[in-house]
Amino acid sequence: DTLGGLGLRADLRIGTAVDMAALAADAPYRAKAAGEFTSVTPENVMKWEVVEKERGTYDWAAADELVDFARANGQLVRGHTLLWHNQLPAWLTEGDFSAGELRAILRKHITDEAGHFKGRIWQWDVVNEAFNDDGTLRDSIWLRKLGPGYIADAFRWARQADPKAKLFINDYNIEGVNAKSTALHDLVVELRKQHVPIDGVGIQGHLSVQYNAPHDIADNMKRFDDLGLETAITEADVRVPMPSDSTKQEAQAEGYDVLLRGCLLTRRCTDFTVWGFTDKYSWVPGTFEGEGAANLFDENYAAKPAYKALTQDL
Ligand code: XIL
Repeated sequence: DTLGGLGLRADLRIGTAVDMAALAADAPYRAKAAGEFTSVTPENVMKWEVVEKERGTYDWAAADELVDFARANGQLVRGHTLLWHNQLPAWLTEGDFSAGELRAILRKHITDEAGHFKGRIWQWDVVNEAFNDDGTLRDSIWLRKLGPGYIADAFRWARQADPKAKLFINDYNIEGVNAKSTALHDLVVELRKQHVPIDGVGIQGHLSVQYNAPHDIADNMKRFDDLGLETAITEADVRVPMPSDSTKQEAQAEGYDVLLRGCLLTRRCTDFTVWGFTDKYSWVPGTFEGEGAANLFDENYAAKPAYKALTQDL
Protein backbone atom coordinates (compact mmCIF):
# COMPACT_ATOMS: atom_id res chain seq x y z
CA ASP A 1 0.00 0.00 0.00
CA THR A 2 1.11 3.57 -0.69
CA LEU A 3 1.17 6.40 1.84
CA GLY A 4 -1.63 8.06 -0.08
CA GLY A 5 -3.74 4.91 -0.05
CA LEU A 6 -3.22 4.40 3.68
CA GLY A 7 -4.03 8.05 4.34
CA LEU A 8 -7.38 7.86 2.56
CA ARG A 9 -8.54 5.26 5.10
CA ALA A 10 -7.90 7.84 7.82
CA ASP A 11 -9.66 10.47 5.68
CA LEU A 12 -6.34 12.19 5.22
CA ARG A 13 -4.56 13.35 2.10
CA ILE A 14 -0.83 12.58 2.00
CA GLY A 15 0.88 15.07 -0.29
CA THR A 16 4.23 16.13 -1.63
CA ALA A 17 5.78 19.29 -2.96
CA VAL A 18 6.67 18.77 -6.63
CA ASP A 19 9.80 20.01 -8.39
CA MET A 20 8.73 20.58 -12.00
CA ALA A 21 12.23 20.09 -13.46
CA ALA A 22 12.50 16.69 -11.79
CA LEU A 23 8.98 15.79 -12.93
CA ALA A 24 9.94 16.47 -16.54
CA ALA A 25 13.34 14.75 -16.50
CA ASP A 26 13.13 11.82 -14.11
CA ALA A 27 10.72 8.93 -14.78
CA PRO A 28 11.09 7.26 -11.34
CA TYR A 29 10.41 10.65 -9.72
CA ARG A 30 7.29 11.06 -11.82
CA ALA A 31 6.07 7.56 -10.99
CA LYS A 32 6.42 8.12 -7.25
CA ALA A 33 4.89 11.58 -7.35
CA ALA A 34 1.90 10.13 -9.20
CA GLY A 35 1.53 6.91 -7.27
CA GLU A 36 2.50 7.50 -3.67
CA PHE A 37 0.58 10.70 -2.93
CA THR A 38 -3.01 11.95 -3.02
CA SER A 39 -2.25 15.66 -3.15
CA VAL A 40 0.50 17.87 -4.56
CA THR A 41 1.94 21.33 -3.90
CA PRO A 42 4.03 23.23 -6.45
CA GLU A 43 7.44 23.73 -4.81
CA ASN A 44 8.05 26.96 -6.74
CA VAL A 45 5.94 27.45 -9.84
CA MET A 46 2.98 29.30 -8.29
CA LYS A 47 5.22 31.84 -6.58
CA TRP A 48 4.99 35.44 -7.71
CA GLU A 49 8.52 35.63 -9.23
CA VAL A 50 7.63 32.69 -11.47
CA VAL A 51 4.11 33.65 -12.56
CA GLU A 52 4.80 37.34 -13.18
CA LYS A 53 8.53 37.76 -13.73
CA GLU A 54 7.83 40.78 -15.92
CA ARG A 55 5.17 43.15 -14.77
CA GLY A 56 1.89 42.57 -16.57
CA THR A 57 2.96 39.35 -18.31
CA TYR A 58 1.70 36.16 -16.72
CA ASP A 59 3.23 32.76 -17.26
CA TRP A 60 1.03 30.02 -15.87
CA ALA A 61 2.49 27.23 -18.00
CA ALA A 62 4.43 25.30 -15.36
CA ALA A 63 1.73 25.68 -12.73
CA ASP A 64 -0.99 24.61 -15.16
CA GLU A 65 1.11 21.58 -15.99
CA LEU A 66 1.16 20.52 -12.35
CA VAL A 67 -2.57 21.07 -11.97
CA ASP A 68 -3.13 18.88 -15.05
CA PHE A 69 -0.76 16.23 -13.65
CA ALA A 70 -2.75 16.20 -10.41
CA ARG A 71 -6.05 15.88 -12.21
CA ALA A 72 -4.73 13.00 -14.32
CA ASN A 73 -3.66 11.21 -11.14
CA GLY A 74 -6.74 11.92 -9.02
CA GLN A 75 -4.82 14.28 -6.72
CA LEU A 76 -5.86 17.51 -5.04
CA VAL A 77 -3.72 20.65 -5.28
CA ARG A 78 -2.49 22.91 -2.48
CA GLY A 79 -1.88 26.33 -3.99
CA HIS A 80 1.37 27.84 -2.69
CA THR A 81 1.53 30.77 -2.20
CA LEU A 82 -0.29 34.06 -2.88
CA LEU A 83 1.54 36.35 -0.45
CA TRP A 84 5.09 35.93 0.87
CA HIS A 85 8.16 38.08 1.47
CA ASN A 86 10.43 35.77 -0.58
CA GLN A 87 10.59 34.92 -4.27
CA LEU A 88 9.01 38.20 -5.31
CA PRO A 89 9.76 39.58 -8.80
CA ALA A 90 12.55 42.18 -9.00
CA TRP A 91 10.22 44.74 -10.56
CA LEU A 92 8.20 44.61 -7.36
CA THR A 93 10.98 44.65 -4.74
CA GLU A 94 13.05 47.21 -6.62
CA GLY A 95 10.16 49.41 -7.70
CA ASP A 96 9.39 52.54 -5.72
CA PHE A 97 5.65 52.21 -5.14
CA SER A 98 3.42 54.27 -2.89
CA ALA A 99 1.27 52.43 -0.35
CA GLY A 100 -1.77 52.89 -2.58
CA GLU A 101 0.00 51.54 -5.62
CA LEU A 102 1.40 48.57 -3.71
CA ARG A 103 -2.01 47.69 -2.33
CA ALA A 104 -3.50 47.76 -5.83
CA ILE A 105 -0.63 45.60 -7.12
CA LEU A 106 -1.19 43.04 -4.37
CA ARG A 107 -4.93 43.02 -4.92
CA LYS A 108 -4.47 42.44 -8.63
CA HIS A 109 -1.94 39.66 -8.02
CA ILE A 110 -4.19 37.75 -5.64
CA THR A 111 -7.29 38.31 -7.76
CA ASP A 112 -5.59 37.25 -10.98
CA GLU A 113 -3.74 34.22 -9.60
CA ALA A 114 -6.58 32.82 -7.49
CA GLY A 115 -8.88 33.65 -10.42
CA HIS A 116 -6.72 31.83 -12.95
CA PHE A 117 -6.84 28.62 -10.90
CA LYS A 118 -10.44 29.09 -9.74
CA GLY A 119 -12.12 25.76 -9.04
CA ARG A 120 -8.87 23.82 -9.39
CA ILE A 121 -7.24 24.51 -6.02
CA TRP A 122 -8.22 22.61 -2.87
CA GLN A 123 -6.36 24.76 -0.33
CA TRP A 124 -4.52 28.04 -0.88
CA ASP A 125 -1.64 29.19 1.30
CA VAL A 126 -2.89 32.76 1.09
CA VAL A 127 -0.39 34.23 3.53
CA ASN A 128 2.98 32.58 4.11
CA GLU A 129 5.45 33.24 6.94
CA ALA A 130 3.99 36.50 8.27
CA PHE A 131 5.46 36.10 11.77
CA ASN A 132 8.83 36.31 13.49
CA ASP A 133 9.74 33.63 16.03
CA ASP A 134 9.04 36.06 18.91
CA GLY A 135 5.44 36.45 17.77
CA THR A 136 5.72 39.91 16.25
CA LEU A 137 4.77 40.41 12.61
CA ARG A 138 7.65 40.07 10.17
CA ASP A 139 9.11 43.28 8.83
CA SER A 140 8.32 42.76 5.14
CA ILE A 141 7.50 45.10 2.28
CA TRP A 142 3.85 44.30 3.04
CA LEU A 143 3.90 45.19 6.72
CA ARG A 144 6.10 48.23 6.17
CA LYS A 145 4.01 49.80 3.44
CA LEU A 146 0.49 48.47 4.03
CA GLY A 147 0.39 47.88 7.79
CA PRO A 148 -0.96 44.73 9.52
CA GLY A 149 -4.30 44.97 7.68
CA TYR A 150 -2.66 43.43 4.60
CA ILE A 151 -3.38 39.98 6.03
CA ALA A 152 -7.14 40.45 6.27
CA ASP A 153 -7.18 42.10 2.84
CA ALA A 154 -5.35 39.16 1.28
CA PHE A 155 -7.91 36.67 2.60
CA ARG A 156 -10.86 38.79 1.45
CA TRP A 157 -9.44 39.15 -2.07
CA ALA A 158 -8.66 35.44 -2.28
CA ARG A 159 -12.18 34.47 -1.22
CA GLN A 160 -13.69 36.80 -3.81
CA ALA A 161 -11.55 35.31 -6.55
CA ASP A 162 -12.11 31.62 -5.69
CA PRO A 163 -14.98 31.14 -3.23
CA LYS A 164 -14.60 27.35 -3.00
CA ALA A 165 -10.89 27.10 -2.17
CA LYS A 166 -10.01 26.63 1.49
CA LEU A 167 -7.90 29.57 2.59
CA PHE A 168 -4.89 28.93 4.84
CA ILE A 169 -2.30 30.92 6.71
CA ASN A 170 0.99 29.00 6.73
CA ASP A 171 4.19 29.26 8.78
CA TYR A 172 7.22 27.45 10.19
CA ASN A 173 8.32 26.97 13.81
CA ILE A 174 4.67 26.78 14.85
CA GLU A 175 4.57 23.03 15.46
CA GLY A 176 4.62 23.29 19.26
CA VAL A 177 3.10 25.74 21.69
CA ASN A 178 5.41 28.77 21.61
CA ALA A 179 5.42 32.55 21.19
CA LYS A 180 5.00 32.31 17.42
CA SER A 181 2.18 29.76 17.35
CA THR A 182 0.42 31.65 20.15
CA ALA A 183 0.64 34.94 18.26
CA LEU A 184 -0.71 33.23 15.15
CA HIS A 185 -3.54 31.77 17.19
CA ASP A 186 -4.38 35.22 18.57
CA LEU A 187 -4.35 36.69 15.09
CA VAL A 188 -6.72 34.02 13.79
CA VAL A 189 -9.12 34.64 16.69
CA GLU A 190 -9.07 38.33 15.80
CA LEU A 191 -9.57 37.69 12.08
CA ARG A 192 -12.54 35.44 12.76
CA LYS A 193 -14.05 38.09 15.03
CA GLN A 194 -13.85 40.46 12.06
CA HIS A 195 -15.43 37.83 9.76
CA VAL A 196 -12.30 37.57 7.65
CA PRO A 197 -12.61 34.44 5.46
CA ILE A 198 -9.89 32.15 6.81
CA ASP A 199 -10.40 28.39 6.85
CA GLY A 200 -7.18 26.83 8.02
CA VAL A 201 -3.73 26.94 9.52
CA GLY A 202 -0.78 25.30 7.76
CA ILE A 203 2.08 24.07 9.89
CA GLN A 204 5.12 23.73 7.67
CA GLY A 205 7.02 21.14 9.71
CA HIS A 206 10.62 21.81 8.68
CA LEU A 207 12.46 19.99 11.47
CA SER A 208 16.09 19.16 12.20
CA VAL A 209 17.26 16.19 14.28
CA GLN A 210 19.53 18.70 16.05
CA TYR A 211 16.50 20.07 17.90
CA ASN A 212 13.87 18.29 19.97
CA ALA A 213 10.87 17.03 18.06
CA PRO A 214 7.73 19.06 18.90
CA HIS A 215 6.04 16.55 21.19
CA ASP A 216 3.33 19.07 22.14
CA ILE A 217 2.16 19.44 18.54
CA ALA A 218 -1.26 17.91 19.23
CA ASP A 219 -1.86 20.39 22.08
CA ASN A 220 -1.00 23.21 19.74
CA MET A 221 -3.14 21.93 16.88
CA LYS A 222 -6.06 21.43 19.23
CA ARG A 223 -6.10 25.17 19.92
CA PHE A 224 -6.76 25.83 16.25
CA ASP A 225 -9.12 22.89 15.90
CA ASP A 226 -11.16 24.27 18.80
CA LEU A 227 -11.73 27.42 16.74
CA GLY A 228 -13.33 25.25 14.05
CA LEU A 229 -10.37 25.70 11.73
CA GLU A 230 -8.85 23.10 9.48
CA THR A 231 -5.19 22.32 10.02
CA ALA A 232 -2.53 20.68 7.88
CA ILE A 233 1.13 19.75 7.97
CA THR A 234 2.21 21.44 4.75
CA GLU A 235 6.00 21.12 4.24
CA ALA A 236 7.34 18.27 6.37
CA ASP A 237 11.01 17.40 6.16
CA VAL A 238 13.53 16.43 8.84
CA ARG A 239 17.12 17.32 8.03
CA VAL A 240 20.21 15.73 9.54
CA PRO A 241 23.82 16.88 9.91
CA MET A 242 25.76 15.31 7.06
CA PRO A 243 26.91 12.65 6.63
CA SER A 244 23.80 10.76 7.59
CA ASP A 245 23.92 7.42 9.41
CA SER A 246 21.44 4.93 10.83
CA THR A 247 21.19 6.68 14.23
CA LYS A 248 20.33 9.96 12.52
CA GLN A 249 17.83 8.18 10.28
CA GLU A 250 16.06 6.78 13.35
CA ALA A 251 15.92 10.27 14.90
CA GLN A 252 14.57 11.51 11.58
CA ALA A 253 11.88 8.84 11.58
CA GLU A 254 10.81 10.04 15.01
CA GLY A 255 10.49 13.62 13.71
CA TYR A 256 8.23 12.56 10.85
CA ASP A 257 6.25 10.35 13.20
CA VAL A 258 5.65 13.17 15.69
CA LEU A 259 4.37 15.44 12.91
CA LEU A 260 2.01 12.86 11.41
CA ARG A 261 0.65 11.79 14.80
CA GLY A 262 -0.07 15.43 15.61
CA CYS A 263 -2.22 15.52 12.51
CA LEU A 264 -3.88 12.16 13.21
CA LEU A 265 -4.81 13.29 16.72
CA THR A 266 -6.42 16.48 15.44
CA ARG A 267 -10.00 16.22 14.28
CA ARG A 268 -9.93 18.59 11.33
CA CYS A 269 -6.36 17.97 10.19
CA THR A 270 -6.92 17.45 6.47
CA ASP A 271 -3.52 16.60 5.06
CA PHE A 272 0.10 15.76 5.67
CA THR A 273 2.39 17.07 2.95
CA VAL A 274 6.13 16.42 2.67
CA TRP A 275 8.41 19.05 1.11
CA GLY A 276 9.75 16.67 -1.52
CA PHE A 277 10.11 12.92 -1.09
CA THR A 278 13.62 12.06 -2.27
CA ASP A 279 17.04 13.26 -1.13
CA LYS A 280 17.88 13.49 -4.83
CA TYR A 281 15.99 16.80 -5.02
CA SER A 282 15.73 18.90 -1.87
CA TRP A 283 16.03 22.53 -0.89
CA VAL A 284 17.81 21.57 2.35
CA PRO A 285 21.50 21.22 1.33
CA GLY A 286 21.36 24.57 -0.47
CA THR A 287 19.78 26.34 2.49
CA PHE A 288 21.14 24.77 5.69
CA GLU A 289 24.94 24.55 5.75
CA GLY A 290 26.11 21.02 6.51
CA GLU A 291 22.64 19.47 6.65
CA GLY A 292 20.76 17.27 4.19
CA ALA A 293 19.15 13.86 3.64
CA ALA A 294 15.84 15.26 4.91
CA ASN A 295 13.36 13.19 2.91
CA LEU A 296 11.53 9.86 3.07
CA PHE A 297 13.47 8.22 0.23
CA ASP A 298 17.20 8.36 -0.45
CA GLU A 299 18.75 9.52 -3.76
CA ASN A 300 18.04 6.09 -5.28
CA TYR A 301 14.40 6.06 -4.18
CA ALA A 302 15.01 3.47 -1.45
CA ALA A 303 12.62 4.00 1.47
CA LYS A 304 14.26 5.18 4.71
CA PRO A 305 13.09 4.38 8.28
CA ALA A 306 10.94 7.52 8.22
CA TYR A 307 8.84 6.06 5.42
CA LYS A 308 8.13 2.95 7.43
CA ALA A 309 7.31 5.04 10.51
CA LEU A 310 4.65 6.94 8.55
CA THR A 311 3.09 3.78 7.14
CA GLN A 312 2.90 2.33 10.65
CA ASP A 313 1.12 5.44 11.95
CA LEU A 314 -1.50 5.20 9.24
C1 XIL B 1 11.67 26.73 -1.05
C2 XIL B 1 11.90 25.81 -2.25
O1 XIL B 1 11.91 24.47 -1.80
C3 XIL B 1 13.19 26.15 -2.95
O2 XIL B 1 13.34 25.39 -4.15
C4 XIL B 1 13.25 27.64 -3.26
O3 XIL B 1 14.52 27.96 -3.79
C5 XIL B 1 13.00 28.46 -2.02
O4 XIL B 1 11.76 28.08 -1.44
N1 XIL B 1 9.03 27.63 3.21
C6 XIL B 1 8.16 27.72 2.16
C7 XIL B 1 8.56 27.19 0.83
O5 XIL B 1 7.01 28.14 2.34
O6 XIL B 1 7.99 27.90 -0.24
C8 XIL B 1 10.06 27.15 0.67
O7 XIL B 1 10.37 26.49 -0.55
C9 XIL B 1 10.70 26.46 1.85
C10 XIL B 1 10.40 27.18 3.13
